[in-house]
Amino acid sequence: MNLIASPPTKIHGDIICPPDKSITQRALLLGALQNKDFKIINPLLGADPISTASALKALGANIDISNEIVFSKNNKGLTSPAHPLDLGNSGTGLRLLMGMVAGLGIDATFTGDASLSLRPMKRIIDPLSDFGAVFQHDGFILPIKTIASSLNSSFSYNMPIASAQVKSSILLAALAAGSEVTIYEAIQSRNHTEIMLKDFGVNIEVHTSSQGNEIFLPSNQHLQQTQYDVAGDISSAAFLIAAALLAEDSHLVIRNVGLNPSRIGFLEVLKAMNANIHIADQRDVNGELRGTVIVQSSELISVELGGSIIPNIIDEIPIISVLASCADGVSTIKDAGELRKKESDRIKALKSGLDKIGVKANEEEDGLTIVGRSFNALEPMPIDSFHDHRIAMSFLISSIGIGKKVKVMDTENITTSFPQFIELAGKIGMSIHEA
Ligand code: S3P
Repeated sequence: MNLIASPPTKIHGDIICPPDKSITQRALLLGALQNKDFKIINPLLGADPISTASALKALGANIDISNEIVFSKNNKGLTSPAHPLDLGNSGTGLRLLMGMVAGLGIDATFTGDASLSLRPMKRIIDPLSDFGAVFQHDGFILPIKTIASSLNSSFSYNMPIASAQVKSSILLAALAAGSEVTIYEAIQSRNHTEIMLKDFGVNIEVHTSSQGNEIFLPSNQHLQQTQYDVAGDISSAAFLIAAALLAEDSHLVIRNVGLNPSRIGFLEVLKAMNANIHIADQRDVNGELRGTVIVQSSELISVELGGSIIPNIIDEIPIISVLASCADGVSTIKDAGELRKKESDRIKALKSGLDKIGVKANEEEDGLTIVGRSFNALEPMPIDSFHDHRIAMSFLISSIGIGKKVKVMDTENITTSFPQFIELAGKIGMSIHEA
């Protein structure tokens, strides 16, 4: 599906933030592992969590999906599936479930779509193998089979990269196996797993020092939760926030936005870019902070990004790049080589899209340099989304900044994280149609 966005004159509205993908995925996994009556309120019913739920059903979880996701006890527990588990486009679903299945000590084969089949899995296969798991694979990519084995009773791991998926995969492996684990992370990555484990009654400890975090999960922990309410996804809200910043006459209120400190780097970056943003009504539900974000039109200035903020904004760099292309001055993004390992090579995809909308940008090995307001007068060329949801949504929003229609190709994967995108964008004043 190709989409065309037309620039609106104003962005106005009062909306509820769509639910968080990372959190929904974790609630699904813990719900299945817990194997008790349990309900997820306000889940993201996007293609990624649905792939994870289908894989969990194939493992034996009793899951009923409507507006809520309801688990009921299955007397047999989770067992080896009859068919390969297809995780679709979902890196989080795959990496976290592979850890959990390795910890359960059961055979399963994992597959995924073309994008997931190219993504690196050595980052989880290495630590999980050191922990005692056994895998069959050809070059650390899908398809990958877990072979039934018992994990060691104790394991410790020093994270070589800041990755919440790797950290969470190891934590879920330890939890499922009943083993104890200590993980050291020098740079904070999103901590939804740690927070959710605590909320489910697990005795997890996190010690923070100048060296980073030491995360300790003791052996033989039990999950005990009856319901979990999912916060809104700041990574989805980011596209709507950007729309409001770029339009000339904006007032946008977004409620129930997840404000977990390990996810709000985007708001800090926007403040540095001179954005007119306010936060209100902050509250904590199931351990996750959330609140209302109020956005008005802003004259943005350039920004220099690098270092420890990068993991905190890794999913927002595509939309930050679009904002930087509309800001006054030259922006730089460094230390972001991980962008090349996402649903697409996002550095290459951003450079390609920025070229098509006529913005001067340089592609570096670990980032980009973007010359703000360097648009040429030509009509934008159709943009290749590289089948990447965040690239597709970012360039649809760019139409507001450049004041021209923008066509983006192959946008189906928007449904992986933000199935309500076209509807919500329409509600606040944008017009996005199938081309
Ligand atoms: C995620 C972690 C991030 C992020 C991804 C979701 C998660 O990946 O890019 O979209 O839910 O744990 P890494 O932590 O592996 O960089």
